[in-house]
Formats: sequence, structure tokens, C-alpha cells
Amino acid sequence: MNHKTCLVIGGTGGIGRAMVEQLVDSTSEKESRQVFATYHKNVPDFAAENLHWIPMDICDEQSIKQAVDVIRQHTTHIDWAINCAGLLHTATQQPEKALRQVETEFFLQNMQVNALASLLIAKHIKPLLASACRSNDNPAVFATISARVGSISDNQLGGWYSYRMSKAALNMGMKNLSIEWSRSLKDVCVVVMQPGTVNTQLSAPFQGNVADGQLFSPAYSAECLLEVLSRMTAAQSGSFVDWAGESIPW
Ligand SMILES: NC(=O)c1ccc[n+]([C@@H]2O[C@H](COP(=O)([O-])OP(=O)(O)OC[C@H]3O[C@@H](n4cnc5c(N)ncnc54)[C@H](OP(=O)(O)O)[C@@H]3O)[C@@H](O)[C@H]2O)c1
Repeated sequence: MNHKTCLVIGGTGGIGRAMVEQLVDSTSEKESRQVFATYHKNVPDFAAENLHWIPMDICDEQSIKQAVDVIRQHTTHIDWAINCAGLLHTATQQPEKALRQVETEFFLQNMQVNALASLLIAKHIKPLLASACRSNDNPAVFATISARVGSISDNQLGGWYSYRMSKAALNMGMKNLSIEWSRSLKDVCVVVMQPGTVNTQLSAPFQGNVADGQLFSPAYSAECLLEVLSRMTAAQSGSFVDWAGESIPW
């Protein structure tokens, strides 16, 4: 029996919750899963025997460390860590349409949630990935949901300074990490992913221009992303891919 231990950060978000539900449910006779999932402001409203909820504020390194300490009490290793937390708008601020709307606090909040957090999570989770049983074809995974709008070469529209810049910074951070870990932590695949345009509270104000059939349900996006992850090899570490596994230019 194949056993996987998975960690989903942002497990109460739109895509994160769908990931948690599918990982918990995919336990079968051939494969069993233990799932750790983190929550922040929204308290989780579902439970399962193989699911363990832990609080984590990804803007607070001490909170990340404490969550990892709790995980360590239950498992020796993590096979897959998937960061689904992210920020596009807040109750009071929308992404910028023009330069005059750029504000320091919102910009730094985007950088902290979307870019810095994955680095800090990687820093603390590394020993648990290091203890995973892995190979090139079956690597440990450190995945973060990024966004196509973080691609510099794909940028045709402009706008959304804080979000675009924070996702571009995330992408650089994860590329850097993939290079460092290719030397110091073999057979781990570091990947940043575009989930499609997904029907969640994050995209809700911006769904007007989405073409028919192009707005994914969280369940569909999560299923596609998990399928892509299941096919990743360690040799593909440092990739930026979409929900179909297609490579996205930096
Ligand atoms: N939806 C789309 O169309 C789309 C497209 C491209 C990329 N993405 C990316 O996909 C990821 C998931 O987005 P989503 O659509 O599922 O959005 P969502 O429903 O708003 O989920 C975002 C999650 O991030 C969590 N989060 C925010 N700040 C946090 C913090 N300081 N500490 C811990 N958790 C925090 C939120 O928890 P709390 O609310 O409890 O703080 C929430 O669970 C994001 O990175 C987003 O940029 C989404």
C-alpha cells in the first residue's frame, strides 16, 4: 500500500478546501493518505479521520514554526506540501488599476502573503520533506499556487501592480529554491502553478470578462492540479506550470 502524507496550507480557501477534500477522499485500497491542513481566519467546518487541522498565519514566522512543530508530533515526514494561500484584494482594497492607486501597506501585504510566505514555509518544512521516502520519479513536492499574471513575458494588460509583482517575486523565490534544493535536498520537486480562473471569493469581483466555460469550479481546478503534481518528477523542479501541466513562460 502506497502511503502519502500531505500538507495543504490555506485549507479553508476556495482551491485549498477543494484540495483537502480530494486528498482526504482519495484514500483507497491501493493508496492511503494522511492530510494536514492549515486554516487562518476561517475556522474549518469539515472533519475526517485522516485529516488534522492546524492554525497558521503565513505572515507570522513564529506561527509557521509552531504549526510545523505540531505536525512533527504526528508524523516523521511530509511527501507533498501545497501552499494554496494567497491574496488579491482585501475588504478595503482592490488591486490597482493605475500607478496612482499604489499604496505601501497593500503592496507589502501582497508581498508578504504571496511571495515571502512560501520561502518561510519552505525554511521550516524542509526537515519534514528531507525525511520523505522519495526518488526522481516519485519526488517529495513543494508546490505553491502562483498565477499566470505573475509571468513578466505574458503581461499584455498591465495593472494589478501589487499582485503581479508579488507573484513574480514568488516565482523567482521558488526558482531559486529549486536550485538550492537540487544541491542540498535531492528528489524534491519545487513547483509554482496557475490554477485557471477559479470561482472563489478571490476572483469573484473579476469574473465578468471570463469566457463561457473558462471559469473553473474549485473542485475541477484542484483535481487538475493534483493530477499534474502526481506526474511531476524531481527533474522538473523549478517549473511554472498551469492546471493542464503546460509550461508557462517566466
Ligand atoms: N481563483 C482564481 O481564479 C485564481 C487565479 C490565479 C491564481 N490564484 C491563486 O490561487 C491561490 C488560492 O486562491 P483562491 O482562489 O482559493 O482564494 P481564496 O478562496 O481567497 O483563498 C485564499 C486563502 O488564503 C488564505 N490566507 C490569506 N492570508 C493568509 C494568512 N496571512 N495566513 C494564512 N492564510 C492566509 C485565506 O485564509 P483566510 O481568509 O482565513 O485569511 C484563504 O484560505 C492564491 O494564491 C491565488 O492567488 C487564484
